[in-house]
Amino acid sequence: KQTSLILSFETSCDETSVAVIKDGTEILTNIVATQIKSHQRFGGVVPEVASRHHIEQITICINKALESAHVTYADLTGVAITYGPGLVGSLLVGITAAKVVAWAHHLPLIPVNHIVGHIYATNFEHPIEFPALALVVSGGHTELVWMPQEGEFKIIGETRDDAAGETYDKIGRVMGINYPAGPTVDKLAHEGQDTFDFPRAMMKDDNFDFSFSGLKSAFINTVHHADQVGETLDHANLATSFQNAVTDVLVAKAMRALDKYPAKEFILAGGVAANRGLREKLDQELSKRDIEFVKAPLKLCGDNAAMIGAAAEMLQRHGAKADMSLNADPGLEF
Ligand code: KG4
Ligand code: ZN
Repeated sequence: KQTSLILSFETSCDETSVAVIKDGTEILTNIVATQIKSHQRFGGVVPEVASRHHIEQITICINKALESAHVTYADLTGVAITYGPGLVGSLLVGITAAKVVAWAHHLPLIPVNHIVGHIYATNFEHPIEFPALALVVSGGHTELVWMPQEGEFKIIGETRDDAAGETYDKIGRVMGINYPAGPTVDKLAHEGQDTFDFPRAMMKDDNFDFSFSGLKSAFINTVHHADQVGETLDHANLATSFQNAVTDVLVAKAMRALDKYPAKEFILAGGVAANRGLREKLDQELSKRDIEFVKAPLKLCGDNAAMIGAAAEMLQRHGAKADMSLNADPGLEF
C-alpha cells in the first residue's frame, strides 16, 4: 500500500494549526498557534480578531510544519482542510491556504467536518472499531454521534442551547477566571465539595439531547445573590457542584444512548474531553459494560490539525474530495 502523507489545516475557531500525518495514524508534526491571549480580555473568541490572527499565522505554521516533519511539498499525497462547522472568517483563511497548496502542487483537496476530526483524534491510539458511539464536547459542541460503520455519522443527541465548554467558560467568568475557564474550574472541582444543589436539565426526558442554559443561569444567580447580600461563596465548592451537574447529565445521557445504540466502542473527544471529572465518571460507568472506552489523547482534545489529517485519510478512502469551489460551511452538519 502506498504511503499517504497529508498536510492538514485547522482554522475553524481560535487555533491556527497545520500538521503532517502519515497513513492517518502517525503524527510527523502538529503545529498549533493559539490566540487565547488575544481573546482573553474579551472573555471569549472575537471572530474578527480570530480571522486576522489566522492570516498572520497560517504561512508561518505551514513552513514550520514542513520543516519540522522534514517533508517537502513533493512528498505530499494530499491536503486536508476543515470546512465547517466554525467561524466563517476563520474557516476561509484555512480553506484558501489549503486550496493554494493543493492547486500549486496538483494535490487532492480533502474536505473535513470539524466534529469528525475531533472523533478521529482517537485514531492515533488505535483504529476505531464499529459500531461506535462518540460524545463530542467542546466550546462549540455537545453531541452524541452514532457511527454504525466507518464513514457513517448520525447525530442522535445534541445541546438545545449552550455547549458544555461554553458553559464552563461562562460560569468561570463570574468567578473571575480567565477564558477558557474549563481547565481551572476542573482543577477547582477536585478541591471542593458538592454543597450547591444545581439543576440537571432534561435528565428524565426520553431523548439524548442536552440543555445547559438553566444550569448556567442558576449558577450566575447564586453568585450574584451572594454578592448582593455580602456573602462570600467557596469557589471550590461552587466548581465541584457545577462540575457534578454537568458530568451527571453528560454521562446519564450517554449511558441511555448506549442502551439504544449498542456500540463496541465509546469515544470521548473535544476540548471538554480533557475534563478529569468527566473521564473518571465515564470510566466508572463504562467499566460496568462490555464496551471499549477510548478517550482522545489529552494533547489532542483541543482543536488541532493532526485530528483533521487522521479523519481525512479515512474520508479519502470513502471518496471525499473537493475542488477550488469549496466554500466554508459555518453550520455544517453531516
Ligand atoms: O475543542 P476546543 O479546543 O474548541 C472548540 O472546538 O470549541 O474546546 C475548547 C473548550 C473551552 O470551552 C474550554 O473551556 C473547554 O474546552 N475545556 C475544558 C477543559 N479543558 C478545556 N472544559 C472542562 N474541563 C477541562 N479540563
Ligand atoms: Zn473543536
